[in-house]
Amino acid sequence: MTEHILVERQGAIQIIRMNRPDKKNALTRAMYAKMSKTLAEGDADPAVRVHVFLGVPGAFSSGNDLADFMVVATGGEGGAEVWDFLMALARAEKPMVSGVDGIAVGIGTTLNLHCDLTFATPRTMFRTPFVDLGLVPEAGSSLLAPQILGRQGAFALLGLGEGFSAERAKAAGLIYAVVEENELEASVLAAAGQIAAKPPQALKIARDLMRGSREELVARIGQESEHFRERLKSDEARAALMAFMTRKAG
Ligand code: COA
Repeated sequence: MTEHILVERQGAIQIIRMNRPDKKNALTRAMYAKMSKTLAEGDADPAVRVHVFLGVPGAFSSGNDLADFMVVATGGEGGAEVWDFLMALARAEKPMVSGVDGIAVGIGTTLNLHCDLTFATPRTMFRTPFVDLGLVPEAGSSLLAPQILGRQGAFALLGLGEGFSAERAKAAGLIYAVVEENELEASVLAAAGQIAAKPPQALKIARDLMRGSREELVARIGQESEHFRERLKSDEARAALMAFMTRKAG
């Protein structure tokens, strides 16, 4: 079976590569679980100084696997692995750098709000269609997006579901840099290398100060998740999910 999350070490850099190209890197429960475990292992290992997230060419991630959402929407189990991953992101002890090329939907966008540096390519489009799916923002994005984008920018992203091109995202402060596709990985790894070369204790204190209260973030993720679980069972969400699942049938 293809490994959907590939983990690699390059010196002090731990790379988490989402690798489910046939589904544009839609994230399954197993993928979330592997990423949580990898983040925890990297945080616990003094040899690791920085985490890196990458996708495949053209797709960082198309978001949560909508088939998994449908399971919950129709009364089934699910959600624990997503919760664990969101907690791992919010509580990550070491800097995180992401390299985004192409599709970045839902968690494919909100994951980057937790990263310390995000690089994207000119063909990247960030999008969070939560409301259009009958859902609500997740991953602490209702707290982090207004801090980064201001209230109006956050509303455009999270309320209207507007796409943010790499250029718009850079201008809005959502990402660090825009680089060509063939330079993405090298740019990300160069930045990660720079981070890894810093005195780790000083960097950790500086990072913690800049990030502010983790407890506030964790509490917000909890609030969002409660609404999210409720919303998944709503008629609005069921109809939107059904429309996606059956869109190729007609
Ligand atoms: N969950 C499950 N499967 C997904 C998926 C998702 N989030 N996103 C894409 N896929 C699947 C498609 O069903 C398709 O599968 P198939 O080839 O077996 O039919 C495959 O990935 C390729 O997707 P496709 O839609 O053909 O590619 P595209 O380039 O035309 O469009 C997207 C890509 C991401 C714009 C589109 O697939 C999409 O809108 N996906 C849903 C995104 C979403 O709402 N995510 C949740 C946010 S909370």
